[in-house]
Amino acid sequence: MSKKISDGLEDVVAAATVLSEVDGQAGRLIIRGHSLDELAGRIAYEDLARLLWTGFFGDLPGDFGPALGAARVQVFEEVSALDTGLLALSPIEAMRALTARLADGDSLDVAFRLMAAPAVFTAAVVRGQAGEAPVRPDPTLSHAADILRMIKGRAPTEAEATALDTYLVTVSDHGLNASTFAARVVASTRAGLASATLAGISALKGPLHGGAPGPIIDMLDGIGAPENARAWIEDALARGDRLMGFGHRVYRVRDPRADALKKAVRRLGDGSNVLPGRLAFAEAVEQAALAILKERKPDRTLDTNVEFYTALLLEALAFPPSAFTCVFAMGRVAGWIAHAREQLAGGRLIRPQSRYIGPLPKVAA
Ligand code: CMC
Repeated sequence: MSKKISDGLEDVVAAATVLSEVDGQAGRLIIRGHSLDELAGRIAYEDLARLLWTGFFGDLPGDFGPALGAARVQVFEEVSALDTGLLALSPIEAMRALTARLADGDSLDVAFRLMAAPAVFTAAVVRGQAGEAPVRPDPTLSHAADILRMIKGRAPTEAEATALDTYLVTVSDHGLNASTFAARVVASTRAGLASATLAGISALKGPLHGGAPGPIIDMLDGIGAPENARAWIEDALARGDRLMGFGHRVYRVRDPRADALKKAVRRLGDGSNVLPGRLAFAEAVEQAALAILKERKPDRTLDTNVEFYTALLLEALAFPPSAFTCVFAMGRVAGWIAHAREQLAGGRLIRPQSRYIGPLPKVAA
C-alpha cells in the first residue's frame, strides 16, 4: 500500500519537546516556558543555556560562566591544528573541521566543550584568515564578551557584548528546525553529542537555513540606495533567486526574532557602532521586498525572518559576513545539545520510510 509523503516533512510532528515552541500563526516563540520577549536582552546566554539543559544532565553548576570559560580554554588547544589548508576553507567549514577533532560522548564536560567550540574556533579562523594570531580565551569573561575579544583582539564595549548576548539568546533554540532535527537524528543513533553537533553545524550551513545572513549583506550592498531596491529585487526574482531573510516554513506572520534583533541593532546604534543611515536603508529595502513578495505571491505570506536583522547586527559588531553562520552556530549549539540529550533520554531511533519509485526487477526466470 502506498504511504502518503509529506514534502519537506511539512506538518509532520516528529518529536515531543519541553524545549521550545514555534507558534507560526501567532508569531510567537516560547523557550522553556518563557516568551522570547522575556528572554532577549534580559538573560545572559550562559543562563539561557542552563535553562535549556536543566533536567537533561545530572548536577548542573548554578553558574555556567566558569565551566564554559574553562571549556573555552580547553578547546583552544585544538587551535594549533589550524593550518593553511583549513584556513583556505570557508569559516564554517574550518570551524566544523576543528570541532570534529573533539572527543565524542554524552557527558556534561563534552557538552561544555562543544558549546565553547564554535566560539573559540571561529575567532581563531577569522583572525587567521586576516593574517592575525589567535587570541587565548579569558575564562573570567562572559561568553559573548570573550567571543568579541577573541575576534577583535580588544575588550568589547558593554553595548557590543550585550548586543551579541541578545543575539545568542535569540537564536539558541527554535523547535524542530533543520539543524536541530539533524542533531536529533544523529543523537537517536547514540552516536554522541559531538556527532550530533557536527550534524547540526552541517545542516545550518545551507543558505535556506543559517547561511542566509551573509548573502543579505551582498543584497544590501548590491542595492546601494533605497531608490534601487525595487529594480534590484525584481531582477533577482526574475532570475529565480530567493530573497534571503524572507519567508519561513512555520511562521505565517513576521518572525518574532526579527524584531528582537532589530531592537538590539537600534540600541547598538545609540553607541554609534552602526553605520549612520544603515538601519533606515535596510528598513527601506525590507519594505520594498515585502511589497514585491506580496504582489508576486498573494496566496503565501512571505514576511521578514530572523536572518534579515541578524545580518545588520553582526555587521554592526564587525563580524565578517563569511563568518555570520558560525555566529549562529555559537548560539544554536546550546539548543542542539539540549535536543540531543532529550532525544537520548526518551526518544527511539529516528528511522522513517521512503517510497520506492524506481524500476522493479525483472521477474526471475
Ligand atoms: N524569496 C522568494 N520567493 C520565496 C521565498 C523568498 N525568500 N521564500 C519562499 N518563496 C516562494 C517559493 O519560491 C515558493 O514559490 P512557488 O510555490 O511558486 O514555488 C513559495 O514561496 C513557497 O516556498 P517553499 O519553498 O515551499 O517554502 P518553504 O517553507 O520550503 O521555505 C524557506 C522556507 C525559509 C526555505 C524559504 O522561505 C526561503 O528560501 N527563504 C530564503 C532563505 C532564508 O531567508 N532562510 C532563513 C530562514 S529563517 C532561519 C531559520 O530558522 O532557518
